[in-house]
Amino acid sequence: MTQSLTIRRPDDWHLHLRDGAMLQAVLPETARRFARAIIMPNLIPPVVTGAQAAAYRDRILAALPEGMSFEPLMTLYLTEDTDARDVAAAHASGLVKAVKLYPAGATTNSASGVQDFNKVRGVLEKMAEIGLPLCVHGEVTDADIDIFDREAVFIDRVLDPIRKATPGLRVVMEHITTANGADYVKAHEADLGATITAHHLIINRNHILVGGIKPHYYCLPVAKREDHRLALLAAATSGDARFFLGTDSAPHTDPNKESACGCAGCFTATNCMSLLAEMFERENALDKLEDFASLNGPAFYRLPVNEDTITLTKGAPVTYPEKIDTGDGPVTVFDPGFPLHWRVT
Ligand code: DOR
Ligand code: ZN
Repeated sequence: MTQSLTIRRPDDWHLHLRDGAMLQAVLPETARRFARAIIMPNLIPPVVTGAQAAAYRDRILAALPEGMSFEPLMTLYLTEDTDARDVAAAHASGLVKAVKLYPAGATTNSASGVQDFNKVRGVLEKMAEIGLPLCVHGEVTDADIDIFDREAVFIDRVLDPIRKATPGLRVVMEHITTANGADYVKAHEADLGATITAHHLIINRNHILVGGIKPHYYCLPVAKREDHRLALLAAATSGDARFFLGTDSAPHTDPNKESACGCAGCFTATNCMSLLAEMFERENALDKLEDFASLNGPAFYRLPVNEDTITLTKGAPVTYPEKIDTGDGPVTVFDPGFPLHWRVT
């Protein structure tokens, strides 16, 4: 039985670091394990221009504790006013690795997102031309669409038409939560990938709602039925190069989560690799963990894999803090509800 596993250092292809005191507190949790991360641009105000992305990258690097190394891979928040030339210049300089599409109103700080997809056609065509990936929050926001159907409807009504209208556009379906999402990726060979979070491999919608409402399991897209969780687990552990880790670790303070109108987000930066090793072991797929966490993402983003390695060792239950203290208040670390035995040593 495998008791120790050495893999290339992983990367996180979807991460929320926030800004200010929160950034200061959560950045080390990620930098301790991950070499690089795709940094989400949904700040207030959002990171829309190349200049804003450069300034945000500088703030991230300034918040990195002495002796830690970490490379933030910056993204731009797509709005209906985004300038294709600014996007192209930010990509050409090496600063920006992706553009993020939030349908307006889909999630945290998405008010500036896209409502009329015709208005971003020029930017998407430029991105296809230069090979810059589009990261997609794949949910429709129509009031008449049930929240549990929003991903599947988005694929049919928005994603597939955009991809057909923009040949060559490279798309990452972010944090997929359904079998529909996994199947769509599997059915389309070229220019398409998907990130999967650790928490969507662990929880289904019962975890949020049965036996009392659990605000720390509420995130967007919301966790779906058990058969969808199983489809995600199968995709993540398959070794298929189109699926890779994007934690969507999204810190909110406890008062903002444990509220009558609680924020969406699970904070997994602290224990993510332990969560993944546990789940991959249960699937007899520890040999696929490196593909998912360390190899498939760089291949999609056309970046080199990390040269250094991490070692995971199995032993007595891992202890990790229940909460991270931040200058803004405590942030609860995702609790899978079962002991974790794999630690990064
Ligand atoms: O749960 C989520 N939290 N989903 C998102 O799409 C955004 C994120 C956040 O920024 O808090
Ligand atoms: Zn996110």
